[in-house]
Amino acid sequence: MKVTYLGHASLHIEFEGTHIIVDPFISGNSLASAIDINDLKADYILVTHAHQDHILDVETIAKNTGATIVSNYEIAMHYGGKDFKVFAMNHGGTYKTDTFSAKYVNAIHTSAFPDGSYGGQPGGFVLTANGKSIYIAGDTALTYDMKLIPLQTKLDLAILPIGDTFTMGIDDAILASDFVECDRVLGYHYDSFPPIKIDQAEAKQKFTDRHKELLLLEIGKSLTV
Ligand code: NI
Ligand code: MN
Repeated sequence: MKVTYLGHASLHIEFEGTHIIVDPFISGNSLASAIDINDLKADYILVTHAHQDHILDVETIAKNTGATIVSNYEIAMHYGGKDFKVFAMNHGGTYKTDTFSAKYVNAIHTSAFPDGSYGGQPGGFVLTANGKSIYIAGDTALTYDMKLIPLQTKLDLAILPIGDTFTMGIDDAILASDFVECDRVLGYHYDSFPPIKIDQAEAKQKFTDRHKELLLLEIGKSLTV
């Protein structure tokens, strides 16, 4: 799987001709101005929760691509009501296609649409394709529920929020990496706004001190799992 960082908590994941976008917030992110959302390919858009910094570009990308929006029941109904293709699920459920599976797992956070309407309960995804698995935590605090994931799935990458204030910070992300039993971590949800600015060198050093790897990708850059 090729994972491209689109800034903030936005990802593009590609494998065997399948394109998945996660939590697109690109046109509103000045750090991601080099990315044109009209160039993005998507067969599926995974949405972890309804906050603006995760859904801003969902409708534009879904219109451009015809992608299926996969999210919790309330978010799926919201977009289904606007005639987008959707798949509704809830915590513990797994969306399966011929090429991948995506399990909706717990997150400790909130989830309201920008107008205040209910966005269901927030979650994350465990994405499995080509024999590899990635945990996309979404916005979350550290939670003991993370320990459930490695009981079933050996992760090859954990994508964890590290910006603090609205989610885990670095120290909790290190514990989350222990909980999910994955020492290869891609950090996201940092630096986009003043309250979530981090010291990147210090963050990486803290992971190194624990014999873990914290990857911080430049926006538009990719890694392979
Ligand atoms: Ni949020
Ligand atoms: Mn967020």
